[in-house]
Amino acid sequence: MTSGPTTPAEPRPLSGSDLGEVLSEYRSIREGIERSILPLATSVDGVTFDLQSSLYHLDLTRGGYVVIGATDEARLGQVTDLRVGSIDASEGALAPGASVHVQLAQGSGLLLEGEGRPFHAEAVRPATSEEVAAWCARNPTRYAGLDVGELLLAPGVPATLDSGGLDRHTFMCGQSGSGKTYSLGLLLERVLAETTLRVIILDPNSDYVGLGDIREGVDGALAERYASVPTQVDVWRNDPEATHPLRLRFADLDRAAQAAVLGLDPIRDRDEYARLAELLAHREEGKALVSGPSELLESDAPGARDLGLRAMNLGVFDWSVWSPDLPSLIDEIRRPSARCTVVDLGSLDTPQEQRLVAQAVLSTLWESRLSREPCLVVIDEAHNICPAEALDPVTLLAAEKAVQIAAEGRKYGLYLLTSTQRPHKVHENVVSQCDNLLLMRMNSRADVADLSRVFSFVPEGLMAGATSFRQGQALVAGKVMPRATYVKMGARVSEEGGADVPRTWAAPREEA
Ligand SMILES: Nc1ncnc2c1ncn2[C@@H]1O[C@H](COP(=O)(O)OP(=O)(O)OP(=O)(O)O)[C@@H](O)[C@H]1O
Ligand SMILES: [Mg+2]
Repeated sequence: MTSGPTTPAEPRPLSGSDLGEVLSEYRSIREGIERSILPLATSVDGVTFDLQSSLYHLDLTRGGYVVIGATDEARLGQVTDLRVGSIDASEGALAPGASVHVQLAQGSGLLLEGEGRPFHAEAVRPATSEEVAAWCARNPTRYAGLDVGELLLAPGVPATLDSGGLDRHTFMCGQSGSGKTYSLGLLLERVLAETTLRVIILDPNSDYVGLGDIREGVDGALAERYASVPTQVDVWRNDPEATHPLRLRFADLDRAAQAAVLGLDPIRDRDEYARLAELLAHREEGKALVSGPSELLESDAPGARDLGLRAMNLGVFDWSVWSPDLPSLIDEIRRPSARCTVVDLGSLDTPQEQRLVAQAVLSTLWESRLSREPCLVVIDEAHNICPAEALDPVTLLAAEKAVQIAAEGRKYGLYLLTSTQRPHKVHENVVSQCDNLLLMRMNSRADVADLSRVFSFVPEGLMAGATSFRQGQALVAGKVMPRATYVKMGARVSEEGGADVPRTWAAPREEA
């Protein structure tokens, strides 16, 4: 007699208490395995490394410094990425062939020393500030160091930028309020105190007008090093009583800018354009028929009056920036008398004047490039001066000059330092020519990803950390900081021009 086919027994649903027991056993096995994961690093190329660590005692951080290996062979590395990973692990307490899904920390990093020697499963632990400081001492900056604060993940260790790296263009980016202007002022203070580099600042919000004023209560070594700076800073502002009134001569502008001020297009308005060129010709020899818009109305020369009326209707006569008598900012740009020139664009009455002055400065710097005098050209709120898309002819001219300086200025000693809130707002040919990056808090992950593509030499994981920065924290990378690092900006020596409006309006109300 044959027995019929047997049906496999249906798994019996676990009752509530059975389920609890099984789950607790599973969790305990999993936790046992997860706790036993050792912090280990492996490198196949002796340049980068991969690491693992238990999530239960994770003391590694992205951007943080680590010591890898045994004491006599130990070397310093930097974690550039850290994330939660998972693996299937088996363990004696489990049925044969069964495994548990466990989670662990996985990451990667760069070796800061001992490069070229691969290793496998070496112990990895966080480096102490003393160990990081010792590494910094073994790798000093080649040129004068600019101490801008401390290493964010090695407290107490000075964050020292190599001033020699400023012979490349620099891009600074961060959310509004992330601390760009404060930090840029701090960097400029150190540049002025520690180097002899000439600095010109296009200052749209009058933020840098206090660079020559030392803050109350600042003393010690820093104040001493800064003591000679105040006399080297000249602020050009829109005030006839100021030591340096911010003035231009129309005749000093380049041809394209003169025409743009009068709204003339070289093709569409070719007759008027040619007439203007004729009236202003020979300005260098002082033989020009007119030297500024106001003279156009009074001139008997053919066509001059029509051009004068055009200027009048555009409101150009009302600009306070014109002055045939006072020294022109252009003369200062051509033949500097001061080490640091702050161009207080914020003091001008109209955006048109601000754009024109910025254009005139950039154009004059380019025109004088053959003097090969090294100069750091700082453009805060660069999206207004060299925007991705210029909406008026003068800004278009300014953006073109900035692009030209970005592309070819370096070999003439013209180094740009542009600062903005979003990378896409600045002309891409300016951003793409920058070799140094100062990245502050960014809310947009998409913007960070785009910057990662432009600054591909910076580890992507370090860039991603910018979305969790606090005010005053920055990622510094490039020739000024060959090993990209997180920095906490220090304290300013000089006065801030336009600090934020205090939040007194949000103080809790006192009950009557
Ligand atoms: N490291 C810092 N220490 C102390 N105060 C700071 C620091 N960084 C910024 N601040 C203060 O925070 C405020 C905003 O900073 P800041 O003006 O530099 O931001 P920002 O990034 O330039 O903003 P925006 O893009 O709007 O110009 C200022 O009042 C400044 O004084
Ligand atoms: Mg700012």
